[in-house]
Amino acid sequence: MRLRTIPSLKLRGRRVVLREDFNVPLTVRGGVADDTKIRRALPTINAYRRTARAVVILSHLGRPSGHGKDESLKVIAQRLAVLLKAPVEFFSEGPTPENAQLTQQLPRGSVVLVENTRLFKGEESNAPALAKRFASLGDVFVMDAFASAHRAHASTVGIAKFLPSYAGPQVVVEVEALRQATQHPKHPYVAIIGGAKVSTKLGLLRMLFKRADYIVLGGAL
Ligand code: 3PG
Repeated sequence: MRLRTIPSLKLRGRRVVLREDFNVPLTVRGGVADDTKIRRALPTINAYRRTARAVVILSHLGRPSGHGKDESLKVIAQRLAVLLKAPVEFFSEGPTPENAQLTQQLPRGSVVLVENTRLFKGEESNAPALAKRFASLGDVFVMDAFASAHRAHASTVGIAKFLPSYAGPQVVVEVEALRQATQHPKHPYVAIIGGAKVSTKLGLLRMLFKRADYIVLGGAL
């Protein structure tokens, strides 16, 4: 599979909407329990900051049913600012026309985190109206959230209809690793599978039964 990518230099002067997967585990008190996913995005965010006008990050968190404080990405914005050693603007109201305007006025290289995409009506139904509003926050869209790429949501699939769109570095790395693991793997081939969501891994396990020499299961599996 050939993925369309964009070198960070080509983002010069443009606002990039970057879809990340900041769906991190939280502590019972609402703090970030594990920031691995945020740290993994740092090289991309830092590279884009050097050239882009603004880096506007979209992510979901959990599977919210209503507007709950514990489902806010605010705590992620705070952690991101610490890790980046730079201010992170937080758009609590989401992709409003005022915020779209603000992205044009922010200092060059600013980083913005938009509130949990799943708190906005139309995210999970991939409503074009919401996708268009997310798109209004930038000039280019980069999809870097591999773990969310199987969801046809407004912030993953819908937005790509309104902006020139590219695969991000983490998606490229994951797709290449999958290609190696599924097409011409070296033997002995040991597959180690973990995670919490058994149902989403059944197809993968069926495929691995045919190819792998050993399968090691961990986590909830
Ligand atoms: C994950 O943590 O697996 C991803 O963020 C996807 O989350 P979801 O299954 O709620 O879409």
